Amino acid sequence: MNESPVVDIGKRAVGYAAVDDFVQDGTCIGLGTGTTVYWAIERVAQRVAAGERIAAVATSEQTASLCRRWNIPLVGLLEREMPVAIDGADEVASDWALIKGGGGALFREKAVALVAERFVVVVTPPKLVSVLGVFPLPVEIVPFAEPYVVREISRWNPNVEITRRGGDMPFVSDNGNWILDCHFGRIDEPGTLDLALRAIHGVVATGIFSSIADVVMVGDENGEVRALPRI
Ligand code: A5P
Repeated sequence: MNESPVVDIGKRAVGYAAVDDFVQDGTCIGLGTGTTVYWAIERVAQRVAAGERIAAVATSEQTASLCRRWNIPLVGLLEREMPVAIDGADEVASDWALIKGGGGALFREKAVALVAERFVVVVTPPKLVSVLGVFPLPVEIVPFAEPYVVREISRWNPNVEITRRGGDMPFVSDNGNWILDCHFGRIDEPGTLDLALRAIHGVVATGIFSSIADVVMVGDENGEVRALPRI
């Protein structure tokens, strides 16, 4: 996403609010990937242009490219302390379990989220669900292992529908891997599913972010931003 996305009032409001509320001058922050966090990156860029010394760890080449274009200094993972990381999500359950990876950046996004002292999630209302599972779960895999991974997931859950992202022209992640989009239906125990999938040889990461979010902010079409309570 090197072109500016169409302005979505809710996404822009929540992206800006997350930076205004949680990012301090002189710090290093984690920057996620996608059309919501785009606005957070733009807000950081405005503050850097105004003279603040904010550095960032990017969760994707796409985000790194935006940072370079907007002169936000980039650093590597764990090069600096990271008080906060900001990222979007594809689904947020009422207990703040997330599905991420719709943009294919799940592996680096999870690495950054785990390192950050506080992981702030920015979304709009359509992302909110009571239980995860409408959005297909992205699973990053080593390409060679695909047949084995598909067989093992299907043995574990015969009802799952598995699609390779990109089909015959596979989507290749920033890590050189492929993404399987897995329709499990309702995911009642995301942490258990994440563990089971990661135990399969060839699975690199899943888009389940369970017990990682510290704050969830929701921006609506009127530009109002609220904190989502955890239930
Ligand atoms: C990127 O891989 C994803 O995890 C994104 O964070 C997620 O898809 C949300 O993206 P949008 O903000 O564009 O909906």
